[in-house]
Formats: sequence, structure tokens, C-alpha cells
Amino acid sequence: MVRMGSDSPILDAAACVGCGECVTVCPSGVLSLGDGLVVVAGAGCIGCGQCRAVCPQCALTIPGDDPWAQAYDVIEPSGEQIAPGGCQAGRLVDIMRSRRSCRRYLERPVPGPVIEDVIRAGITAPSGTNSQAWTFTVLATRAAVMSLGQAVAGFFGRVNRLAANRLVRKGYALLGRRELEDYYREHYASVAEALAAWERDRTDRLFHGATAVVVVGSRPGASCPAEDALLATGNMLLAAHCLGLGSCLIGYAVEAMRHDKRVKAAAGLPREETVHAVLALGWPAVAYARPAGRRRPLVRYKTA
Ligand SMILES: Cc1cc2nc3c(=O)[nH]c(=O)nc-3n(C[C@H](O)[C@H](O)[C@H](O)COP(=O)(O)O)c2cc1C
Repeated sequence: MVRMGSDSPILDAAACVGCGECVTVCPSGVLSLGDGLVVVAGAGCIGCGQCRAVCPQCALTIPGDDPWAQAYDVIEPSGEQIAPGGCQAGRLVDIMRSRRSCRRYLERPVPGPVIEDVIRAGITAPSGTNSQAWTFTVLATRAAVMSLGQAVAGFFGRVNRLAANRLVRKGYALLGRRELEDYYREHYASVAEALAAWERDRTDRLFHGATAVVVVGSRPGASCPAEDALLATGNMLLAAHCLGLGSCLIGYAVEAMRHDKRVKAAAGLPREETVHAVLALGWPAVAYARPAGRRRPLVRYKTA
């Protein structure tokens, strides 16, 4: 998707010294030098802000930039521009390795400003053609989280009833659709147990008692909506950890929203949006003593 210049940079001609740095970093080729000054030809600009970021004179502004994105409430960024190699990679890895999927939370609510800062940290992520078409739907109370949990439970109750029927499973498989058979084998029993616990005393095996949920979605029209949303989500997990929050991605809720528009509506999302991640958040009631391990990944080298 190429956006046609609505976010094209505005040049302060008095400040521009014609160094041409912005021309070299522009991915859209809409900047050039003429008469010792930058010339902005708007069409094709994706509003990425590279020109603004590189300009030593602060001579460029991007009209689409919103101050909200920088107005952190509880996080205090130093404002320092950290060059490649200008930070301790070891500290970063410490943070990444220390984050855990949290499945035990205190009943304490997560204040709105904390959630908003997590989202602000999320949208520092890159996005395909800088489309930033991600959306964040916040369920900020335990009651709202439980109400979504009820909708997800309804969906999986229906799926389990279908999957329990051997003839239906075989019928799907005959039509070349193995998913119900796979679901029966891998999820049916644990889902049945979780649903029974939910019915019995509202034991929450879905959101694990989290007091907030953020649904990360996308509006139509982005070039890489899933990648954008998941990159933002990764940032959010790390920011949440730094803020003292526990977090857990809830794939079951994503599946329910993708397959059943009633569940999506229960979370407050309009039909045209796509759901990419559901993030449970809350103050952790568990502390981890050490990082979790990882299996060795397949790493392949090609040298010629
Ligand atoms: C796409 C995705 C979906 C997940 N869905 C669930 C889920 O529905 N419920 C849950 O408790 N954990 C879920 N998790 C958490 C994983 O189980 C967890 O990330 C993994 O076991 C590694 O543990 P760690 O996050 O503590 O490193 C999900 C993780 C991912 C990436």
C-alpha cells in the first residue's frame, strides 16, 4: 500500500542547510536537493519520519505524528538517541530472558495510564510501509475480562460439542478438513476440563485471573498487518515486564475471536478488524527465580 503524501514532511526552509542527509535515508525517494535546499515532492511518501530523525537541523516535521505517542505517563524515557552499539546488549538480553508468561495474578487492577504506556511502547515497533494500522482494544477491569472469558467459553463449549461427535469429526475429515480431528486429539480433553472448572466456580484457566486484557488487531488496508501487530505485541510484553506487570499471550481467545464474530463483538472489536493477539495483563502473584530454557533452534548458514 502506498499512501499518497498525506504525511509528507514539511520543510522549514530557513533551517535547512542542504546537507542532503534526509535524501539518502528516504525509502520513498520523494526528497531531492535543489538550489541547496531539500525539495519535498509529496506523492509516495509513507510518512516514516526517517528524514525528520536524521536531520541535524530539525528542519523537517511530519504532520501525521501525534504527540500522544510520546506522552508517556509512567515510563520515563531519557530521550537519549541510542546509536547502534550504544547500549548494553547484555542488559537487553537480561530483560528478554526474564519475561515469563504469567499464569497467576493479584486481584489489583492495572491503571489505565500504565496500559497506555504499554501501548505506546508497543507502537515503537516497525510496520510494513509504515502503515501503523494496528488497533488496541483495552479491557481494563476484571469484570470486562470475565465477560470476554464467558464469550470464549461459549465458543469452545460449541466446538467441544461438535468435536465430541465422532460422526461429525469423520464427516469433516472426509471433506478434507482435519482440523476437528486434530482439535479433538490435542485440545478437547483439556478444554473440557477448563470449561468444567469455569462453570463450577469461575476458575479462570483462560486468562489466569488477569485483571486486564489488550486485544491487538488491525484495520483493513495494511501491507503486513499480522507482522506489524505481533512486533508491537512483542514490545508490549517487554514493556509490561519492565513496569512490573505479568503478561501472557492467549491464543485460545484469538482463535475464538477469529472464528466467531460474537466473541469479537464481546471484546468490543468492529467486524472489519482482524485479531492478531490477545494479551492478558496484571500484577503477578508469582516470582521467577531464573530464566526458562530454550531448545536449540535450527540455524542454517549459506555461504555461496
Ligand atoms: C501465539 C501464542 C499463543 C499462546 N497462547 C497461550 C494460551 O492460550 N494460554 C497460555 O496460558 N499461554 C499461551 N501462550 C504462552 C506460551 O505457552 C509461552 O509463551 C511458552 O510456553 C514459553 O513460555 P514463556 O513465555 O514464559 O517464555 C501463548 C504464546 C504464544 C506465543
